[in-house]
Amino acid sequence: MIKAYKISKKVPIADTELTILEALSLTVEAGESLAIVGPSGSGKSTLLGILAGLDLPSSGSVHIDGQNITAMTEDARAEMRARYVGFVFQSFHLLPGLTAQENVALPLELRSDKAAMDTAARYLQRVGLADRMTHYPRQLSGGEQQRVAVARAFACQPRILFADEPTGNLDIVTGATINDLLFQLNQEEGTTLVIVTHENSLAARCGRRLHLQCGTQFTPVEEMTVKC
Ligand SMILES: Nc1ncnc2c1ncn2[C@@H]1O[C@H](COP(=O)(O)OP(=O)(O)OP(=O)(O)O)[C@@H](O)[C@H]1O
Ligand SMILES: [Mg+2]
Repeated sequence: MIKAYKISKKVPIADTELTILEALSLTVEAGESLAIVGPSGSGKSTLLGILAGLDLPSSGSVHIDGQNITAMTEDARAEMRARYVGFVFQSFHLLPGLTAQENVALPLELRSDKAAMDTAARYLQRVGLADRMTHYPRQLSGGEQQRVAVARAFACQPRILFADEPTGNLDIVTGATINDLLFQLNQEEGTTLVIVTHENSLAARCGRRLHLQCGTQFTPVEEMTVKC
């Protein structure tokens, strides 16, 4: 479902260049659940953005369902994302001028889904926010905003769901509910999951775990020996 080949990400910093990722390759099968773990600053969020087609690598390629998204125009990539990808960001990326329900409904409306608001209500209920639908993001706690973001990603029933610390801002009980929802989607709909997490229990539920070391190397968690 996802094939990344030798992706590197370099960004200009002052007079020099910072290498965030270097020649990373990775394959994720359809329906697989993969956890990416690693220290803060190792490049996990950068990698997820590139795999999801939100950001471009400096070199290398990413294929989603056999299509090279790195070689596409920006418009074609946006269409590809709308068709395949859901994303739960580390920072929630909710639109401040829209209510919780409108935020969840937006991507569905962009697909001309007539039932967008009803579907949004159903997913908000599933994440425990039935009584917060008309609240604006500024009227929601951090954990509630995260749950709206999760509902928004789920409501589109994407083939691949990328989640960056999906439960990082939640209490244990709410976090467990969100985790259950993630794996429900994975099992019932065959959604491919790629999750960045610091949480051992969430990583443990994934079929495979990779440790990102200094942006340059993946090691299966079970075989970890090298330290940055
Ligand atoms: N646009 C950018 N310009 C310069 N440096 C950047 C940029 N984006 C990320 N970085 C740097 O690249 C490194 C990797 O960032 P990234 O956000 O991918 O880390 P992470 O593994 O997700 O960390 P965390 O666990 O703290 O979320 C960091 O040191 C960060 O400061
Ligand atoms: Mg991050």
